[in-house]
Amino acid sequence: MFVYTPPADLLKGRVILVTGAGSGIGRAVSKSFAAHGATVILLGRTLKKLEAVYDEIESAGYPQAAIYPMNLEGASPKDYEDLAATLKSEFGRLDGLLHNASLLGTLTPLVNYDITMWYQVLQVNLNAPFMLTKACFDLLKAAPEASVLFTSSGVGRKGRAYWGAYAVSKFATEGFMQTFAEELETNTAIRVNSISPGATRTSMRRAAYPAENPETLPLPEDITGLYLYLMGSESRGIHGQALSVRDNSLEELQAIHSHSPMAE
Ligand SMILES: NC(=O)c1ccc[n+]([C@@H]2O[C@H](COP(=O)([O-])OP(=O)(O)OC[C@H]3O[C@@H](n4cnc5c(N)ncnc54)[C@H](OP(=O)(O)O)[C@@H]3O)[C@@H](O)[C@H]2O)c1
Repeated sequence: MFVYTPPADLLKGRVILVTGAGSGIGRAVSKSFAAHGATVILLGRTLKKLEAVYDEIESAGYPQAAIYPMNLEGASPKDYEDLAATLKSEFGRLDGLLHNASLLGTLTPLVNYDITMWYQVLQVNLNAPFMLTKACFDLLKAAPEASVLFTSSGVGRKGRAYWGAYAVSKFATEGFMQTFAEELETNTAIRVNSISPGATRTSMRRAAYPAENPETLPLPEDITGLYLYLMGSESRGIHGQALSVRDNSLEELQAIHSHSPMAE
């Protein structure tokens, strides 16, 4: 398990957009970004859940968050451009982007996979991060050091029977991250990496493993260290990596960091 104790001001002054911020991992990570000084833009499809996270951040005395309700399934390219324009006019910057929202879809053999569901899962898990990243690119490029994090999964790194569109979308997410990382190696200070959070106690996990005892799993609040590390300056130089909360350690990433020209 990745363990990291960041300085309290790790993300001070940064503006970070988190998708799927209303529940599960997105909620916990948004709160930890805010706790370390970031202004967090909470994007998700259920306003009530976003409002609850907003209130938690406010009552903790962290920098005021913002809510951006958006259904990634139906959003058009124009909706993403409008979002980027709003970020520019309201905040003037974007330092971090966490693509966290995902749809699980159904667990079933590929030949039985419902075609409408296939499109929905790929729209939310793959096409939405593509359109959002594209729309936010100029803002990210203008930031002194921007970090973009994609959320993967164990089934996005090794195929597993019955995980269908979800697994395919996560493999594609890794491909997107790697392709983008190589393109960004010159002329930008944008870093991109992917995170596999590992089994975590959320409603998505419960839907995938209904017979599992959730008490055996870490809470979303227990796994925020890698997200914080990759969002902050201490990970400068970590770029194009497929990382895992369970399998990577701070020491290992610090060794990559110290050998990277970007770390200077
Ligand atoms: N939990 C695990 O064990 C595990 C393991 C590997 C990878 N992951 C990955 O970790 C990330 C977070 O998952 P989680 O476990 O925290 O799941 P979760 O609790 O189900 O949260 C998923 C979030 O995505 C949002 N979302 C889904 N469809 C959306 C749409 N059309 N538009 C906007 N937002 C949408 C949901 O919004 P609503 O709340 O409004 O529905 C929710 O906030 C996902 O990328 C998942 O693939 C999780």
